[in-house]
Amino acid sequence: MIATTGSDEAARQPGTNEGWSSRSAFILAAVGSAVGLGNMWRFPAEAGANGGGAFVLFYILCVVLIGLPVLLSETLIGRHGQASAPESVRRMAAESGKSRHWDALASIGVLGAFIVLSFYCVVGGWVLYYVGAFAQDLVTTGLTGGAFQGRPAEEVEALLPGLFGNGGLMVALQVVFLLITLYFVARGVSGGIEFVATWLMPAFFILFLAITVYGAFTGGFAEAVTYLFSFEPERLTGPVMLAAVGQAFFSLSLGVAGMITYGSYVGRDVNLAGTSTIIAGADTAVALIAGLCIFPIVFAAGLEPNAGPALMFQSLPRAFQDMPVGSLIGLLFFVMVFFAALTSSVSLLEAPTAWVKDKFEMSRVAATMCVSAGALLLGALAALSFNTLEAWHPLDGMSLFADMGVFDILDTVTSKVLMPIGAILTSIFVGWIASRRLIDAENGLNGGLHKFWLFLVRWLCPLALTAILLVGIFPSLTD
Ligand code: PHE
Repeated sequence: MIATTGSDEAARQPGTNEGWSSRSAFILAAVGSAVGLGNMWRFPAEAGANGGGAFVLFYILCVVLIGLPVLLSETLIGRHGQASAPESVRRMAAESGKSRHWDALASIGVLGAFIVLSFYCVVGGWVLYYVGAFAQDLVTTGLTGGAFQGRPAEEVEALLPGLFGNGGLMVALQVVFLLITLYFVARGVSGGIEFVATWLMPAFFILFLAITVYGAFTGGFAEAVTYLFSFEPERLTGPVMLAAVGQAFFSLSLGVAGMITYGSYVGRDVNLAGTSTIIAGADTAVALIAGLCIFPIVFAAGLEPNAGPALMFQSLPRAFQDMPVGSLIGLLFFVMVFFAALTSSVSLLEAPTAWVKDKFEMSRVAATMCVSAGALLLGALAALSFNTLEAWHPLDGMSLFADMGVFDILDTVTSKVLMPIGAILTSIFVGWIASRRLIDAENGLNGGLHKFWLFLVRWLCPLALTAILLVGIFPSLTD
């Protein structure tokens, strides 16, 4: 049974750390962190590339049995410590009489957040590019007919390779996206991060539902439902399972200290089990609905569902060509994705910023600038790996990164190495190392659910995640 929360207002401990103004502000910010390109771009692409239903059902299982327990573990560490992620772990370890070096779990996470931030802004830049392309199209062709009228489908598909070929533009868009993120993080937790979440998340949900309902009427809906939810057990292979767990972690923003950091701004009276359930539920619902938003449009246009990462940036714009008022729908779609991406990138910047601020006793603005400068440089290398630096595969000597440019290396090192390690250590720390008294006081669970959660955190999460880590690093293990 989940214990009841106190008042809705989060009672902050004065003088400890910055904080959310209310429980609902925390929920919106955390849902904002979770809902992002992972849901809109990665989830439909992964589901499509991995055969639909089997992936989707296993994904849901991973969210419930692994994602949710780790999410609760991360937020409770943060809430207990009321400081940046590594400092929060250190405090909990010290109070439990354990080594302060457990803070490594959060340091790995902070590094992971920084790396994800750097390539996330590159993709954020692509989203901005499509916002611009559809806005321009709306101005030139108006509301009649589909998007990009009179232009052959190949030309619309060529927008993405066209952008990839222009390194300068890619870096410029990446920088714009990063600067917008920086602006809100520099303004602080309640003044900036919470502001973005409380305005953009409701706007996101309205656009999202409107486009999904509209897409459902353009045909292809029944086909999409069958595709996403028909379970064919023989399709549930090792690589599909691996893709599903990795996606669940990325989508819930786990393993990179982001949720520890957001948890550190939560008041003592908030029931973390309840809020974690809401956050994971909302994130999963958005991922599933994103599938029901994108696939009907793709099917109605007679396109293939397995285009992978190109699904959102190539198949969908092409599908908008056949859709009534396609330019407007396309514009609204990419504006909505931009909102989702921004509330996530803000959390990615916040985790390393909070650490730099604590560690070097810097002001928030200075800390934000330092982290952003680093992310800009690394991100620029990632952006240029699509063009100028295409042939540069710096880690060719390591089999995990063979033949990869910087963008793919950053993606792989975070999703296959840092995120699983961060999450394994988190579950071991909460399940075995930290004092039960501290954990029990924070987690908001009792009775059978408490026991079940403890079982998942102690056994299932570390074991399943270790298997995933090993298979991710040594793919030959599944042969
Ligand atoms: N969860 C975000 C998404 O789905 C990405 C993210 C990962 C954000 C890790 C913060 C931390 O897009």
